[in-house]
Amino acid sequence: MVIGYGISAIILPWSAHERVQSLPEIGQSKPIIQLVDVYKEYTAGNISTAALKRASFQVFKGELIAIMGPSGSGKTTLLNMIGLLDRPTRGSVFFDGLDVSKLDDKTLANLRNTKLGFVFQTFNLINRLSVFENIELPLIPKGIPRKVRAEMVKEALAKAGGDERWLRKKPNQLSGGQQQRVAIARAIVGKPLVILADEPTGNLDRASAKLVIETFLSLNKAGHTIVVVTHDPEVANCMEKIYVIRDGEIVGEFQPNKTEALINKT
Ligand SMILES: Nc1ncnc2c1ncn2[C@@H]1O[C@H](COP(=O)(O)OP(=O)(O)OP(=O)(O)O)[C@@H](O)[C@H]1O
Ligand SMILES: [Mg+2]
Repeated sequence: MVIGYGISAIILPWSAHERVQSLPEIGQSKPIIQLVDVYKEYTAGNISTAALKRASFQVFKGELIAIMGPSGSGKTTLLNMIGLLDRPTRGSVFFDGLDVSKLDDKTLANLRNTKLGFVFQTFNLINRLSVFENIELPLIPKGIPRKVRAEMVKEALAKAGGDERWLRKKPNQLSGGQQQRVAIARAIVGKPLVILADEPTGNLDRASAKLVIETFLSLNKAGHTIVVVTHDPEVANCMEKIYVIRDGEIVGEFQPNKTEALINKT
């Protein structure tokens, strides 16, 4: 990555940070997701906002990435590009080698539903459905037999640190941290290539946040590729790599400071 301007201009919310070299290593496999000089402008009336400016970003298999930045800096906009939820105003997005601009909306939606898993700050579970049905939802369009679906739901919930006793409950009968683990189970049940999470601990107390982050760490250990947007340095420091975004620009890539991580691994 080309660092756009002096690193000294960045005030980082954690100490003892270290800039890391982010050029692809020789022999490194192709990225699953690649953004090349992506711009995103939002226009409302005659006011135009440049939410992303010349963002170049790559996600490789097995990575555990944090995207950090202040409110309004473009984190969600960036995640929407990575997650194929929106198209750039300019620039290119490649997913698994495919140029996304060449795909129609239906193909894009299909790619998103089969290859990506999403986790949101507000969980986005459906309260009139049971926990089981919520986790099962992404499997329904795939025509997977009911019995197999049931096994996949149980496996996903176990991987997400959940309890089988939750399956018959409604989401609002669980705590926030438990609901987020159900949402993670829903995100992983279809075995996506990448899990994308937007402020997954934003609505949680510290104890629940810890459990959710522990879940992400164990999923990453099991081979899942994960990108987490957060403005919480203690959460970002749990990841393996931190990208910082300010005013729509990715201004650097940093190594986490494990001594200031929510889950202290050192
Ligand atoms: N749909 C939209 N229409 C117009 N402007 C938008 C839209 N979505 C985002 N923006 C603007 O783009 C900029 C980046 O927004 P974005 O939601 O990506 O920030 P963020 O870093 O995720 O912030 P937060 O931490 O508050 O969630 C902001 O100035 C925001 O007001
Ligand atoms: Mg946001």
